[in-house]
Parts: sequence; C-alpha cells; structure tokens
Amino acid sequence: MKTGSSIGISRMKPCCNILILGRNSSVFGYPHPKGGHFTEYNLSKSQSKSYCLMKNKCFYSIKILGFRSVIDSNRRVFCGSGSNWGQSRVPSVNWGEKNNKFLSVIANVASNTRNHSSSVEPRVNENSFEKIYIQGGFNVKPLVIERIEEGQDLVGKDEGVEKEHKSKVDDGANASTDQFGKAEVLESKPTRHLSEVEKEAWELLRGAVVNYCGNPVGTVAAADPADKQPLNYDQVFIRDFVPSALAFLLNGEAEIVKNFLLHTLQLQSWEKTVDCYSPGQGLMPASFKVRTVPLDGRVGEFEDVLDPDFGESAIGRVAPVDSGLWWIILLRAYGKLTGDYTLQERVDVQTGIRLILNLCLSDGFDMFPTLLVTDGSCMIDRRMGIHGHPLEIQALFYSALRCAREMLTVNDSTKNLVVAVNNRLSALSFHLREYYWVDMKKINEIYRYKTEEYSTEAINKFNIYPDQIPGWLVDWIPETGGYFIGNLQPAHMDFRFFTLGNLWAIVSSLSTSKQSEGILNLIEEKWDDLVAQMPLKICYPALEHEEWRIITGGDPKNTPWSYHNGGSWPTLLWQFTLACIKMERPELARKAVALAEKRLPVDQWPEYYDTRYGRFIGKQARLHQTWTIAGYLTSKLLLDNPQLASILSWNEDYELLENCVCGLKSGIRKCSRLTARSHVAAET
Ligand code: GLC
Repeated sequence: MKTGSSIGISRMKPCCNILILGRNSSVFGYPHPKGGHFTEYNLSKSQSKSYCLMKNKCFYSIKILGFRSVIDSNRRVFCGSGSNWGQSRVPSVNWGEKNNKFLSVIANVASNTRNHSSSVEPRVNENSFEKIYIQGGFNVKPLVIERIEEGQDLVGKDEGVEKEHKSKVDDGANASTDQFGKAEVLESKPTRHLSEVEKEAWELLRGAVVNYCGNPVGTVAAADPADKQPLNYDQVFIRDFVPSALAFLLNGEAEIVKNFLLHTLQLQSWEKTVDCYSPGQGLMPASFKVRTVPLDGRVGEFEDVLDPDFGESAIGRVAPVDSGLWWIILLRAYGKLTGDYTLQERVDVQTGIRLILNLCLSDGFDMFPTLLVTDGSCMIDRRMGIHGHPLEIQALFYSALRCAREMLTVNDSTKNLVVAVNNRLSALSFHLREYYWVDMKKINEIYRYKTEEYSTEAINKFNIYPDQIPGWLVDWIPETGGYFIGNLQPAHMDFRFFTLGNLWAIVSSLSTSKQSEGILNLIEEKWDDLVAQMPLKICYPALEHEEWRIITGGDPKNTPWSYHNGGSWPTLLWQFTLACIKMERPELARKAVALAEKRLPVDQWPEYYDTRYGRFIGKQARLHQTWTIAGYLTSKLLLDNPQLASILSWNEDYELLENCVCGLKSGIRKCSRLTARSHVAAET
C-alpha cells in the first residue's frame, strides 16, 4: 500500500479512533434521528473490527477515520465493535422484508496484518470479512484514512460545508447555469405524454434498479429474462450506470444517483492487491455487486454486502481506468442537475476526487500529456489494439479534469493540484487538437511526410511512415469534416474512427468548435457507415482477416462487424444527442433516435448489433441491456430539454487559450488554439 501521501493517508497505528458523526450531521440530506447513540470508540489491536446493525427509519453515516460507511436511510443504526464481528449482534429485527432479512453493513477498521504490512506482504486475512472480498487472487479491503489534512473537516459537515472556504475555479463556460437549481430541473420536466416505447423503457429501467440495505444504489448491466448465464451482467457497472443516472436526474429523481456516488466512493477506498502488487488508491471498480449473504451462525438471517470488481475477475484482468473518470463526470452532472452542491463539497468526496486525480496525474516515463493505459481499459474492455493512448480515455480524462477544476475546493493543500490540473488540460487539448486531428488536408500532409527527422523542429514528430495511411481511409475521408484518430504512439497512428471519444471531444470542448463541426459533418456524411440501421458504430472500420487475428488475438466475440469490432451500440445514442444539441444540430440526433426507437423495443433492447450496417442483433448480445434502455430515455429527455443538455457540456475554455505556450505561432504550422482564439476575438 502507498502510505503517507499528500492526501493524508498513512499506516494505521495499532490503536485507532472511530469517529462517529455528531447529532447535527447527516448524509444524503437526512437528519439524524433523535436518540441516536453516537460515541467515539477507541479500538485496541484485538478489537480491530466494527460492525453496524440497522433498525428503524433514519439515515446515518458513520465515518471511521475517513472510511465511509453509509447506512440504510430507513433504519436506525446500532454500532458496536469487537474482535469477532460475526457473532456480536443485536437481536434480529423484522425489517419488513421478505425472509426476515437481517441487513447489516460491516466496516472493517484496520487489521493487524494491515497495520504492519509493507507493500510486499500478503494482506490475506483469514476471517470471514476478507473471504467475502477476496476473489481470484485479488484482495480488496477497506482503506483506512487515518489522518485528514489540516484544514479538513473529519466529521464532514455534510450540509454545512461553509461556502466562504470555497473558491471554485469557474471556467465561465456555464456561468449562467450556476444558479440552476433543482426547482428549475423539475420545472423543465417534459409535460408531453410518454409514448408506449418510453413507458416500456421506464418500466424496464426501474426493474433494473439494485438495492443495497433497502436503498437504490444503481442498475444492473442487463436484466435479460432469458439469460441463464449472466456472467457479470448482473452487476452495477460504473460506466453503464451513467446513462441510467442521467435519465433519473433528468426526471427529477436524484436519490439513486447520490447513493451510487457515495457507495462507489466507499469502494474506492478498498485496499487492493493482486499477486502481491497494489494498484493505486484512487482506482474505482469496474462494477460492483450487492450480495445478500447468510449471517454466520444465524439461520434465516441475511446481510447485504457490496462486492466490488476492480478488474480482478474481469476477462483479461483489465484495469477499469475509465471508472474514476466517469465517477467525476457524474458527480458534476449531479450538482448541475440538482443544484445540490453540498455533495461535491463533502470532505470525503473531495478526497475521492483527489485520489483519482493523483492517480491520473502521477509522474511516469511519459513524453505526452495523454494517459498511458493498457488494452481494454474502457468501454472496449477486451483486446482490440487500443493500448497506449486511446482517444476514449483521453477525452474522458479531459472531461474529468474540467469537472474536477470546477469542483475542487481550493485551499493550501489543493492549490498545487489545481495548477497541475490546469497545466494538464492545456497540454492535453494542444496535443489532441494538433496531433490526433485528421481531415483531408492533414492526411495529404501525412502522405507527403518525410521520415527519420532528427530535431526538435521536426514536422513529422512521431515519425509516422506514410505507408501507414490505410487504403480504406484514402477514399473514406470526406472533403469537409474530419475526426480525432483512435490512438497515437511513436511511429503509429491508429486511423480507426472511435465514436465515444469523438463525441466526448465535442461535449467537453476538447476539440475546437471548428473540429466539433467537422466531426458532426463527417458523421452526417458517413451516416451509412456510422449509423446505418442502428446508431452507432463503436468504431469504424472493423478489423478483418490477418489484422483481426493479430490485433484481437483471434477473439471470437470480436469478429469483424461484431461487438467491439465495428458493432453498433445503441447506448452511444445519448452521447451523440448531447454532442448534437451542443452543436445546435438536434435534428441529427432526432434522426438517430427515430431509427433506434423503431427497432429497440421490437428487438428487446439489445446490448449491440452486428454486421456492417447494424442489421442483426449481436451474436452474443444481452437483451434488456440497461444502458441501451437508459441511453434511449436520456436522449429523449435531452431532446425535450435542450437547456439541460447545455449544462452537461462545456464551452471553449478561454483561460486555457490565453495560457497557450505551445510555440506554434507562425510559419506553416499554426496552433489550432491560436486560431480558435482569433475566432473568439472576431466574434466578440
Ligand atoms: C461489456 C462492455 C462494457 C460494459 C459491460 C457491461 O463488457 O464491453 O463496456 O460495461 O459489458 O455492460
């Protein structure tokens, strides 16, 4: 485990304090009940476990030195501690649920093993708590944050985080939306009657909701009634939940989203080791499952446990790099759409943001500002030749940095981080706009590149051999329009078009407005390739023949024009809609929604479609796939409320333009940001 970092995490001392919220504090906006028993516990080494049992109707948060244990809103909390948590229980209570379920949340406060462990010591503990969380050689346990930095509020004034201590960086892009409160969101709810398709979609979406200790915390990836082997589709995926969350938020339902954000935050704090190696602390799981497990030694009694998957069970053991980025993006959306900014201001939430940022911004051997990741670290979570600096991750990274910049509380302990965020944003947008962008002119430039240029003045900086321009692109690239390529490495450009990354470049203003126009122009012009019968292709074109064999490793699920390899994913519809509304071209989105609407209910809301034109339901596609359903609903809601869509996207960041220090100011190479700046100047 990494210890003593700037966020105030350090090794546990043998004796630790458990601080429990005072009477006036609350989480999730609910007050504590009168008569709650709050106290401060001192645990000795042998008493290193704590547990909480819930009764009655109220909401509690117990903060154990930074470990967050969020307790059922409808039940009173009983807290105790003991070396044998599995046996010290208060008598069972009828919660009014089927089978007299006995729900509890267990907080593991710091075992001796952990107190004295170094990074190479195994952290497998023999007790049943760890057994629940250890799977496949990957060990996860709660991380205990012992010390909160000076100036931070340990008990978390959930409601009363003083505004005067906050000095947010407002990028000005959405200044007018800062007053956007819940009331306005609710007021702008559609008044029109829902169509039968929408009604069906809502019913299915609600049917996919997962509860934890009686509260909604997410939606399963798929609730396919005919699926005998759900694999991990019965889990709540972080990325899959985003469209569900937006549908709920846009419909004025915030509770599930708040619960999700806080519970996944808890999971982030789990300490993880895989074969003696610990990934970074800020890692968010790809997914989690709520397991209802029998209570040891108590017949007919059960407890709910959250069981995260950080990639240790995933096919290929892929690290979910995008999870933390999506979490930050959703956190900002929650604030914007509900007007409830107290959530992002909480100390534990701020710590969560900082952990993710620390992980993304840590120094490595990188020469580029882009994030270096392994294959399959995002929506495409199997081998597809996207290792290195894939566009999807870079676009989400940029978006998450912009979100964090708005949400980070600026104080002495974060000011360096804010500087780092700003610098990275600037470098990232320069890098992507300059080097990932291709259009007719640029391809022609590459076609005439000289190679083996040795100097800082090189035009062909990445030593791209013109032969790399694939045959399909020569004919495919339209006269107008362009796009960001899939990946850029030394001597390697992946020219495939990846939809999600290009759409998020538009949404986050990673692209200049001219480039954003260009991407939508290209999609319109290449409609038959990218949309055809079902929006939208995950990437174009598919890898075929030897390329498929070598790049995917002969993956039978990723055969040409199937699944990640050129399959069509209706969930991408909501991101397309967001991008279209931002660029004031909602009619394009409407056209795509209309196409999807015709088939999705008939086909039972599949996960993806196959074939070049998206004509068949995917070979192994799950039905009743939640993010297909939620993506459709979110698109409809956004089209009904374009003003809400606009608060979910960003405009050009003028500050970043001002601070551009790229040095490309004259001659044939001009920095695209200078051009963007002069457009802005001309407009004002
Ligand atoms: C597949 C997709 C991934 C998604 C998961 C759950 O693995 O590739 O992006 O999150 O299914 O739907």
